[in-house]
Amino acid sequence: MARLTVVADKAAMSEAAAERMTSRIEMAIAQRGIAAISLTGGDTPDLLYEYLADDSRAWKRRIDWPRLHVFWGDEREVPPDHEQSNYGLAHRLLLQHVNVPETQIHRMRGELPASDAGRLYDAVLRARRDQTAGPLFDVMLLGIGSNAHIASIFPASPLLAERSERLERFATGVAVPELSRWRITMTPTALLDSAAIVMIASGPSKAAAIAAAIEAPENVEQYPAQLLREAEPGDRVEWIIDAAAAARLRGAPRA
Ligand code: 6PG
Repeated sequence: MARLTVVADKAAMSEAAAERMTSRIEMAIAQRGIAAISLTGGDTPDLLYEYLADDSRAWKRRIDWPRLHVFWGDEREVPPDHEQSNYGLAHRLLLQHVNVPETQIHRMRGELPASDAGRLYDAVLRARRDQTAGPLFDVMLLGIGSNAHIASIFPASPLLAERSERLERFATGVAVPELSRWRITMTPTALLDSAAIVMIASGPSKAAAIAAAIEAPENVEQYPAQLLREAEPGDRVEWIIDAAAAARLRGAPRA
């Protein structure tokens, strides 16, 4: 069973996630001298990014930013300065306020056609896989959609079926019919190649998806977040969610 932390609201979720990410980063840097994290987009991580960059809080001082490599689990097909860019969000709220060298910020190239950007990112991650002894990422931060998608792996995504073919693919462009858009996303192979996976969710619109991800009978095609069950047993996955997002869990502790 994954670890489940239920807190009162989005601010408390962001604080708990900042603490969890910071301690994982500290641990990796203490052990290997560098840390690799992967970030998420959407509306959920904004406060978390602000907290990590906040001079008045300890997290910014605790992280040795020049030793950090930053990746993204998915990206929209927009340029980096677009308001919907996942890179853009992290840049505005976090990365422009801390000292991570440009060469260690590995963004998905949303300004390119998604199929090209996906191939380029796959090559980046493949090279990294070849050079890395342990997991690809020390911390994978992910949100969850109200339909239980993670990164840009939506229900019935071809990436779910492809798993059984044991394709060693780490990232790709993918059409998302329900959005009538293309996205760039890490594959399940890459997402699960993480020492720790921190799942964040806030608000009532996520309650059904959380219950499906954690407690429903297995149906990964319908609920891609159930992919995280493959990271069990063990302590790798931690759900940090607020009370509203936890409302439909039967076995959940209440905040
Ligand atoms: C994205 C994501 C995606 C996101 C969920 C939740 O680019 O949209 O990375 O997987 O985490 O859709 O989105 P919200 O935080 O906006 O609810």
